Formats: sequence, structure tokens, C-alpha cells
Amino acid sequence: MGDISMQQTLPRHVAIIMDGNGRWAKKNKLRVALGHRKGVETLREIIRESSDLGIEALTLYAFSTENWKRDPQEVGALMDLLLEFFTSEIDELDEKNVCILILGDVEAMPEKQKQALYNAMSRTGKNTGLKLNIAINYGGRAEIARAARLIAQDVADGKIRAEEIDEKLVASYLYTRDLPDVDLMIRTSGEMRLSNFLLYQCAYAEFDFPEVLWPDFTLAEYHKALNAFGKRERRFGGR
Ligand code: IPE
Ligand code: IPE
Ligand code: MG
Repeated sequence: MGDISMQQTLPRHVAIIMDGNGRWAKKNKLRVALGHRKGVETLREIIRESSDLGIEALTLYAFSTENWKRDPQEVGALMDLLLEFFTSEIDELDEKNVCILILGDVEAMPEKQKQALYNAMSRTGKNTGLKLNIAINYGGRAEIARAARLIAQDVADGKIRAEEIDEKLVASYLYTRDLPDVDLMIRTSGEMRLSNFLLYQCAYAEFDFPEVLWPDFTLAEYHKALNAFGKRERRFGGR
């Protein structure tokens, strides 16, 4: 099964849009909630593998600011799964030295989920292993608008001068402030769009769009994407 060759360049920062749970449920004649539940199994494996491979940062898109538009039943099922995930996985993740960061508007989440998310961050915040970033109630444009608001406030308070605002400073006001730029962006299920994910951070990311639905995304598929990344020629605008 397409193993990772150890000499190759691993991306420092992998981002994944975990898409296709709904279609997987439909294909298997199951309720959509079961598609999401199966998706969580994939997520567990990909986190474990990323940690074992020594990838520096893994950022996963779990729930967008636009996903509130879905049927309340589906949103409820996603919220339940989220709570379940953070309750059942936190011990193992902490043991594996994983450092969890939530990207997105945590304050606006329902109370129980909010507590679980803050707890996960405070409990693992000092860990030095895989940086696991989970985007929940996240939107890329909202993130940039928030950064602009915070910068404007710091200028008004005299903490920084307007002339000091450059690309690096803007990046330092994003949720991802201490993370390297995204090297590899993977979106499963064949869709080829960003859906408001990491707009600023993907400026020079390499993209991979495997056809498989997220619940069917295996370690072999992950290795394939990592190997393909190792063969890409990245130019960053140079010769
Ligand atoms: C992605 O799967 C998971 C979330 C958005 C939470 P979808 O639910 O979007 O799956 P499809 O796109 O309908 O197949
Ligand atoms: C993006 O997928 C969000 C997540 C995977 C969490 P969507 O399924 O919500 O995106 P669109 O609606 O197809 O663009
Ligand atoms: Mg989708």
C-alpha cells in the first residue's frame, strides 16, 4: 500500500477539506448523520498517521460558518459528534503530545461544545508534537475581517503604527498566527473549490483533489497525496 518514501519532502503543513460525508451516506442508503460518524473514523486515522509521520501541522475543516444553513437535525448531529469526539479522544491526543488549536468563532458555539473546545485547547496547549488545528464555525473571510478589526484596534490604542502593517503582521493576527503557510491542501470527494477555507494561508499551497469521499479516504490515499506533493516543483514566483 503506497508507502511513504522517507527521503522525500514531507509538507510541513497539510490542510484537509473533509468533504463527501453526505454523498457517502446516500450511496450506502444511510442517514446523513451516519456519514458524518464514518467520517470521524477517517479523521482519527489521519490524525494518528500525521502524528506518526512527524508532520508539523495538520489543519482540518470540520464545520464552516456556512454549514449552519443545513437542516437543524444535521447540524444537531454534527454538534453531538463534535462533543463526542473531543470527549473520547482528548486523553489519547494529549498522550500523543498533540497540541490542539481551534480555528473559528468558538465563543458563538453552543455552551457544551464551547467548553469542550476551550478545554481541549487549554489541556494540550503546551504539547510539542503535532499541531492539530480544527476549523469549527470557521470562515476564511470572517477570519480576515477579524484580523482587520484587531489590527485597527491596536492602531487606535497606539500599540502599532499603520506603516508597520505588512503581510507578516496581518498573518500574525489570524487564527493560524504561529503556523507555517499551508504546503498541501487536500479536498476529498472531487469538488475543486476552497469553500472559504484558509484564504490567506493558501497563497502558495499545492492542491490535491482525490475523487474518494471522505469516509473512504484511506491511509493509502493519504500516502498517495503526500508522495505526489514530494514530486511537485514549487517555484513561489521564482525561476
Ligand atoms: C463534509 O461532508 C462534512 C461537513 C461539511 C461537516 P458533506 O456533508 O459536505 O458531504 P457532501 O458534500 O454532502 O457529500
Ligand atoms: C466545506 O464543505 C466545509 C467542510 C468540509 C467542513 P461544504 O460541503 O460545506 O462546501 P460546499 O457547500 O460544497 O462548497
Ligand atoms: Mg460537502
